[in-house]
Amino acid sequence: MEVILAKHAGFCFGVKRATHLAFDAADKGGDTYTLGPIIHSPQVVQRLEEMGVKSVEDVNGIGDGSTVIIRSHGVAAEELEAVVRANLKIVDATCPFVKKAQEHVATLSREGYDVVVVGDAVHPEVQGIVSYATGRVYVVSSGNDVDRLPRMAKMGVVAQTTQSFEHLNEVVAACLARGGETRVYNTICDATAVRQEETKKLAGEVDCMIVIGGFNSANTRRLAQICRELLPRTHHIETAGQIDPAWFEGVQRVGVTAGASTPKWLIDEVTETISAIDKDKIG
Ligand code: F3S
Repeated sequence: MEVILAKHAGFCFGVKRATHLAFDAADKGGDTYTLGPIIHSPQVVQRLEEMGVKSVEDVNGIGDGSTVIIRSHGVAAEELEAVVRANLKIVDATCPFVKKAQEHVATLSREGYDVVVVGDAVHPEVQGIVSYATGRVYVVSSGNDVDRLPRMAKMGVVAQTTQSFEHLNEVVAACLARGGETRVYNTICDATAVRQEETKKLAGEVDCMIVIGGFNSANTRRLAQICRELLPRTHHIETAGQIDPAWFEGVQRVGVTAGASTPKWLIDEVTETISAIDKDKIG
């Protein structure tokens, strides 16, 4: 059985950076916290917990002199201000691409634009981005949503970093159709698109797909969905322990991919486990 690992499986640039910063902070010791899980990987969060890094919902109850790590998809402006006010040490692991989107929203508001954010209103990244607006701000997920917005003389558009370009285009077209001035910042990061395209291609070339990543990770779930549409023999797992050898009956080629928040050590465990199953079959 041939095991083919997607070239870009696992950590994107922002998650890799955030994870390094978090493990560095943990190594330094002292009371260390993250505001919400640092990334959407329960196994990484657990490993950090074992090193003494606790995930908390807000700054209340965090003792003086503690270190707070800001997660990769950022936090709301008020939360960051609360950390600053509480005189805590900050390790800002916000992905620079997310930071850029936050900055654009702040600038647009300051310059008198109503802000339209293309994305998922309940996603923490979007809630963080929205919080940087000081004027009117709306979250939309389609061109139809734009048609329902109130009159705006000046509109500024930014996107959640994981949105598709087609989606942003659709919203921008709807904004332009309303007339008035429209300023657009393309804040999409291509890490998501690259992983999705590559996964789609791989799923078309194998008999079985294994998708690794947190069940709470939206980008991993999306990869699994893309695979399933092409190949019903798709399994979404978090760890190698969840693999069932029966999945590989009659399989010649198995494809492996992983979400942007899946660490390399989990990917290695999975590929090694699949290869060992293959050896057992032969032996
Ligand atoms: Fe950053 Fe893009 Fe990853 S925004 S966290 S590099 S998916």
